[in-house]
Amino acid sequence: MGKDCKKRCVAPTSICKKQFMAMTGLLLCGFLLAHLSGNCLIYVSADAFNRYGHMLVTNPLILPAEMGLVALFLAHICMAIKLTVENKNARPQNYYLKSKTGRGATFASSTMPYTGMIILIFLVLYLITVKYGPYYVTQVDGKEMRDLYRLLAENFSNPLHVAGYIFCVSALGIHVSHGFWSAFQSFGINHPRCNCLLKCLSKIFGLLMALGYSALPLFLYLKGGKL
Ligand code: HEM
Repeated sequence: MGKDCKKRCVAPTSICKKQFMAMTGLLLCGFLLAHLSGNCLIYVSADAFNRYGHMLVTNPLILPAEMGLVALFLAHICMAIKLTVENKNARPQNYYLKSKTGRGATFASSTMPYTGMIILIFLVLYLITVKYGPYYVTQVDGKEMRDLYRLLAENFSNPLHVAGYIFCVSALGIHVSHGFWSAFQSFGINHPRCNCLLKCLSKIFGLLMALGYSALPLFLYLKGGKL
């Protein structure tokens, strides 16, 4: 009786935690997609990219949007730490039951905490570079604005920076290649037909993120820092 009660009380809480993780993870996937689309302007021209950056920072909604994004990241990270610690402390049998496929772990699923840590370190370094890096100024359509293109072009003229960036976004690709599918499982979408499609979509999404984000530093490196 005591054990059953414990099970009934504990199960919904852990499902809620997983669903919270899934919701924050999927929202972050949406952010990744939107950010990647904006970054594509770098292939159009330096002016197009700088105009886009200027439009973002001068938008009055940028502050609430940034605060929401930070809250989303913090929520995802805090819950990730909590779930990882709980999984580690659980008995091996419980841990196995938490495996969503029941068919054992894959490389991507078993490395979620590590790829997550790499993303976190990468994000901090990226933000430091962009927010606190040199503030070059340029003129676009007669308007003075920050020359973000020049900052990135200079950064990615260094092959070590390019390699580090590609390593980190590959970890991001691996993280979401499992996470995207796993999130739908957490919401109870678990039908053999859907599973196959979602696993496939998840891998495509992971690959798109890894290749899409890797293309940017490679493009700037191959241009040789030319503006
Ligand atoms: C843009 C960045 C990120 C995206 C798009 C993302 C996305 C996801 C998604 C969709 C899931 C699956 C949720 C589920 O199983 O229901 C997940 C799980 C996870 N994430 Fe992230 N994540 C990101 C950043 C991070 C960071 C920075 C960390 C840690 C420092 C992290 C750690 C984890 C862990 C440990 C799990 C597995 C939790 C579990 O099921 O036990 N993630 N992530």
